[in-house]
Amino acid sequence: MNTGRLEQTALVLANVRLSTAAVLLELRLPETAAAARPGQFLMLANRRTYLRRPLAICAVDHDRRSVSVAMEAKGAGIRDLMNLVHGDEITVLGPLGRGWRYTDYQAVIAVGGGTGVYALPTLLEAARAARIATACVLGFRERSRLVLEDRFRAAADTLLLASEKGGLDVAGTVLDGLRALDPALLGRHAPGQVLVACCGPAPMMRAVAAWAAERGFACQVSLEERMACGFGVCRTCACRVRAGAGDGWTYERVCCEGPVFDAADIIWEEDGDGCES
Ligand SMILES: Cc1cc2nc3c(=O)[nH]c(=O)nc-3n(C[C@H](O)[C@H](O)[C@H](O)COP(=O)(O)OP(=O)(O)OC[C@H]3O[C@@H](n4cnc5c(N)ncnc54)[C@H](O)[C@@H]3O)c2cc1C
Ligand code: FES
Repeated sequence: MNTGRLEQTALVLANVRLSTAAVLLELRLPETAAAARPGQFLMLANRRTYLRRPLAICAVDHDRRSVSVAMEAKGAGIRDLMNLVHGDEITVLGPLGRGWRYTDYQAVIAVGGGTGVYALPTLLEAARAARIATACVLGFRERSRLVLEDRFRAAADTLLLASEKGGLDVAGTVLDGLRALDPALLGRHAPGQVLVACCGPAPMMRAVAAWAAERGFACQVSLEERMACGFGVCRTCACRVRAGAGDGWTYERVCCEGPVFDAADIIWEEDGDGCES
C-alpha cells in the first residue's frame, strides 16, 4: 500500500484531561476529518517508540477540521503522546481500517469497557444522525475513570454506566448493565434489526457476543490487537476468523479487514490460537 496519501503531519490543537487516567488529543487533520468513518483508527508516531501506536478516532469536528483521539497510559508510547501540548506536531497515518457497519439496523446497542469506550462515540452519533435508536452500556473500573459522560448521554437514547466498585448506575460489569436495560426497549425491534457493537477487553467482548447471540441480535466487535504497521504489510495483527463451511478458518488482518469484525466470525483465544485482543 502507498501510505503517502494517508501520512500527514498533525498540529496538536488541544490536550484535554478526561479523567484521572485519560486525556483527549485534538489534532488538526483536515483530510482525515473529511474521510473518517465510525470505528476507524489512526496510527500516531511518538518520540519514545519506533513503532506508531493505534488509537480509535474518538471525535471528528468538521468546522475545526480536526480529529480527536483519547488514551490511557499503558507504556512509553502512549505516555509520550499524553504529554503533547498545543502547538506540537506529530506524524499520523489514517484513517485506517474497516469500521462499524450499522446502517442496515434499526437499533444500535454500544457496549464498551476500558479503552474500548473511545471507539463508540462516533458510532452513536452517526447512528443518531441516521435516525437509528441508540442505547449504550459502559463499564469503568471506578467512578474516577468515567470519561465523556456528556457526549455519551447526548448520543444515546439510554445510557447505563457500570462499575464493579459501585458509584455509577449499575454495580457490576457491562453484562449486568445489559441485563438492566429496559426489556421494553430491547423488545421494540425485531432481533435481526438490533446491532450490538462492542469494544473492550477480549473476555468482555466474548461475553457480550454470547449475550447478543442468545437474543438473536447481530454483534460486531472492534479488536484492540497489537499492531506494527497499521496498513496491512507486517501481519503482526493477524487474527483467526471462521471461513467457509464447517471448521474452516483463515487469518485476517485486524488493521485492514478489521478492526471491526462480526463477532460470530471470531475465533477467540480460548477456542484455540485465535484473537486475544
Ligand atoms: C484499532 C485500535 C484502537 C485502539 N484505540 C485505543 C484508544 O482509543 N485509546 C487507547 O488508550 N488505546 C487504544 N488502543 C490500544 C493502544 O494502541 C495500546 O494500548 C498502545 O498501543 C500501547 O502502547 P504503549 O507504547 O503505550 O504500551 P506498550 O509498552 O507497547 O505496552 C504496554 C502494555 O499494553 C499492552 N498493549 C500493547 N498494545 C496493545 C493493544 N493494541 N491493545 C491492548 N493492549 C496493548 C502490552 O501488552 C503491555 O502490557 C487501540 C488499539 C487498537 C489496535
Ligand atoms: S499491523 Fe501490520 S498488517 Fe496489521
